[in-house]
Amino acid sequence: MRLSPSPETNFMSSLTSTTPQNAPSLSDPITGNTTAVVGLQWGDEGKGKVIDLLAGSHDAVVRYNGGANAGHSIVIDGQRFALHLIPSGVFRPDTVSVIGNGVVLDPFKLIEEIEGLRERGVEVKNLAISSRAHLVLPYHKLEDAMLEDRLAARGLSIGTTKRGIGPAYSDKANRATSLRVGDLLDTDYLRAKVANLAEYKTDALRSIDPSAEAIEPKRLTDALLDAAETLTPFIEDTAYLLHGMLRKGKSLLFEGANATLLDVDHGTYPFVTSSNCSVLGIPAGTGVPGAEVKQVVGVLKAYSTRVGGGPFPTEQDNEVGDQIRRQGNEYGTTTGRPRRCGWLDLVAVRYAAMVNGCTSLSLMLLDVLSGIEELQVCTRYQIGDDPEAITGRFFPDANRLAGISPLYESLPGFHGDVTKARSFDELPAPARQYIEFIEDFVGLPISIISVGPDRSQTIRRG
Ligand code: IMP
Repeated sequence: MRLSPSPETNFMSSLTSTTPQNAPSLSDPITGNTTAVVGLQWGDEGKGKVIDLLAGSHDAVVRYNGGANAGHSIVIDGQRFALHLIPSGVFRPDTVSVIGNGVVLDPFKLIEEIEGLRERGVEVKNLAISSRAHLVLPYHKLEDAMLEDRLAARGLSIGTTKRGIGPAYSDKANRATSLRVGDLLDTDYLRAKVANLAEYKTDALRSIDPSAEAIEPKRLTDALLDAAETLTPFIEDTAYLLHGMLRKGKSLLFEGANATLLDVDHGTYPFVTSSNCSVLGIPAGTGVPGAEVKQVVGVLKAYSTRVGGGPFPTEQDNEVGDQIRRQGNEYGTTTGRPRRCGWLDLVAVRYAAMVNGCTSLSLMLLDVLSGIEELQVCTRYQIGDDPEAITGRFFPDANRLAGISPLYESLPGFHGDVTKARSFDELPAPARQYIEFIEDFVGLPISIISVGPDRSQTIRRG
């Protein structure tokens, strides 16, 4: 399969070209606009829809973290698409889709995703993949699953997506044991490196499970060289690409995968993923300085969900949680697992908005709450058993967070079909009150309200 490379010069041509590649002059000012879209809870907030809405006014959509653990679903004209690695801008033909160096990339999964989209009539064009993104290989997924099983036996499992994310980032930090996308371009280097790694990684797998099969280096190298055929036209130094675009006045949209409370540094550690999912991951994961990220849109659901293990203060393991799961179809895009559901935790949301420096909010899945008589919103935590020990602070630490009890304020519920509302004023009064309560508490405007999965089921404000 041949696909068209991004309109900018690609990495391969920079290796083979006899003319020197241009680097942008730093005396040229950055005139391009930049926006980041980031989840403020434990993922699955509906970021894909927000990205899709904003992509039309941006020239590139840029992934900076995570890998195929992310699952962004987008509904266009009633058709549902689930994306795991390809940036959500892919549905806009003039938008460049960039996979930055901070992503861990499963090359086989990416090709599967490209082909899957093509079968449904979506041609993946204008894709740029960082030569410095690290590869997720089959043995990473195996290691992820084996570790999870081993930890589960001791009650320590994280509940990962088993997409090899943790092991791939571990190898990145280990340095000697990782492969990067750019390595696909050098056949001899790749063969030698895989031969060494296969032995090392077989030993590593067998230290977890002695019955693990040996990794066959030739088979893996051949598969990687096959994948390279497809991917080579898209591989480049995306830091130069992005800086070049910014200096030409082009606008960039950064797409956070996973979400802030799963951030390896700022989330509910150790029940987190292995990357910086907050906007703090953008500079390291793309090469664009943080100071250039001007607008930060924090995305939250009208309630809370979590997949996998870890503390979840407002979880409702009862009829309310079941109703939310039913009405919100709360099952994982990546793994199909039923999501844990609960009330909106504004202590957590305000913390996440602070860490990200959000400039506005998008409130998603408001329609799901329709029909619930009384809505609870968590605004403070009680620490331990002492009723005097009240805090408005979130604890990004699983152990400390497990020791708090959420304190709620009650708001009236709303009824009827809100999915047809296209302006704030068309929403029932209690729904408007709910929205204004969130804005007041967090101290930020809600500029996008989603009342259904389709692009059209959206209220824009301000
Ligand atoms: P990992 O990223 O597969 O290592 O999983 C670590 C934790 O993050 C698990 O609890 C996953 O369920 C969770 N997780 C990772 N990515 C997402 C996501 O995109 N949405 C929701 N949860 C996620």
